[in-house]
Amino acid sequence: MSNTNESWGSRIGLILAMAGNAVGLGNFLRFPVQAVQNGGGAFIIPYLVCFLLMGIPLLFIEWSSGRFGGKFGNHSTPYILDSMVKGRVLKYIGVFGIFTNIAVVAYYTYIESWTMSYVYHSIRGTFNGMTQGEVAGFFNSYIDISHSTTGIPYEAVWFYILCLIINVYILSKGLKGIEKVAKIGMPLLILFGVILAVRGYTLGTSGASSMFPEANAWDGLSFLWTPQYSSLLDLKVWMAAAGQIFFTLSVGMGTIHCYAAYLKSKDDIALNAVSAGFMNEFVEVVLGSAIVIPIAAGYLGLDWVLNNASFGMAFQTMPYLFEQWGSILSAAAGFMWFGLLFFAGITSSLAMGTPWMGFMRDEFGWNSNKGAWTFGGLALIMGLPTVFFYQQGVFDEYDYWAGTVSLVVFAMMETILFSWIFGMKKGWKEITDGADIKVPHAYKFIIKFITPLMLIIVFLGALFSPLNNDWSGNLKSLFSGNGWSLSNTSIIKTITQSGIKEQIANATDPAVIQSLDDKMFYITIARILLISLFLFICLLVYLAYNKRVKEGRATI
Ligand code: PHE
Repeated sequence: MSNTNESWGSRIGLILAMAGNAVGLGNFLRFPVQAVQNGGGAFIIPYLVCFLLMGIPLLFIEWSSGRFGGKFGNHSTPYILDSMVKGRVLKYIGVFGIFTNIAVVAYYTYIESWTMSYVYHSIRGTFNGMTQGEVAGFFNSYIDISHSTTGIPYEAVWFYILCLIINVYILSKGLKGIEKVAKIGMPLLILFGVILAVRGYTLGTSGASSMFPEANAWDGLSFLWTPQYSSLLDLKVWMAAAGQIFFTLSVGMGTIHCYAAYLKSKDDIALNAVSAGFMNEFVEVVLGSAIVIPIAAGYLGLDWVLNNASFGMAFQTMPYLFEQWGSILSAAAGFMWFGLLFFAGITSSLAMGTPWMGFMRDEFGWNSNKGAWTFGGLALIMGLPTVFFYQQGVFDEYDYWAGTVSLVVFAMMETILFSWIFGMKKGWKEITDGADIKVPHAYKFIIKFITPLMLIIVFLGALFSPLNNDWSGNLKSLFSGNGWSLSNTSIIKTITQSGIKEQIANATDPAVIQSLDDKMFYITIARILLISLFLFICLLVYLAYNKRVKEGRATI
């Protein structure tokens, strides 16, 4: 039963909403860190190859699957997949497309709420006169909920709840609300991004301040932009590049399917998908690389950046660097930097609300209001543990399973379904129907063979990542009969928490052992929550199926 004929108001609104979906915290916080940790210029070639051979094909697959499902009144992955391929069990694969969003939004909105708080503190001048250590200390105090000394008791919790309420409110207005936020947020984000990037590029080649006269912003830029061909043989860099492409393009999540389900059946897919994808890449590669890294390198030196790259850098270090520009400019820079992060974040977190709302509307007739508030409720239940037990690893656990592994698993399954079961003949027709550009024919071949193969390799690579990420050493050892040693970050070893167990075995300080024990406990809780959420959505899909059978609408 589809009781919605909601669709996008305009093409520009659709493209901005889709670009807003993709452009997110990943572009500004995750990309620079991944690039730095994987050798700067060494990262860029694998990254671009992954974009062309996995990113673009997945965009085509997800946009066309979504539009296809939408024709039958289905707006979320369980029944979008069901309308493409017949098989009772297949719709449960689509559970990923709702589950991942709720699990990711829970911790994603937590970072989004930091950006709101930091806008507030930048304007208030909280960071004025603070030393580098004090700015970093502010962040540590902020996330240490019950001991925080940031001025507002339980500040992180309040901002988190406020952030969820803002998301829910906009979602309750339906697609119109999302479109409006994208139309305002995206241009502002780009404007702020360009201003800060210009600043990054113009800090020049001499020390930006007397603090570190040797420091040099251009060191940062040339580190990122000097390609190194040796990395082409390093599988570790390829895995990181693939992971970044998934996350940044929002593929393997179910949000693109859902947005595309609100297209009209004759609407173009090819050009829209490519435009939104390239807009994301522009923001990521051109703007995302031109702010944190060169500014930090300009003041603190490239070595400092290489040793300290983490996504917390944006909060722990940037406000201090802005301080060097005087109190007015620093307030303006803080406002723009955290404001742009907020817009990047909210246009993505809104997208994560839509699959749940679409599903509940299609199957149980829930209106936007009911859909949005229950989504907020679920996000809150899943999210509060990440807020309260951030330091105990709940956040990272969600990010690992929902924000990394699930994306690869779902992308792999949906690609095989699309290319091999739905079939490339029908698939190609869906991609090119109504297209405003001529899609290069090579993509027919890529989508059928290359993309699934690469996804399978990435999946196996994550399952069995080798010790020290040393692929060639382990491959040699495997072929010479000495076996394969797994890294603690491989999926297999993560399941058994081997890494922490090893640390406990090696620790002698009872306090350290206690905190590691605590960590194991909270990680277990996080896993129970994730599994419960997954099963809960399976149950809903099952109930929806029964309901369809009763109403004579089930297809099998
Ligand atoms: N692409 C977003 C980012 O770069 C994250 C995201 C993932 C958003 C999945 C929606 C769905 O931050």
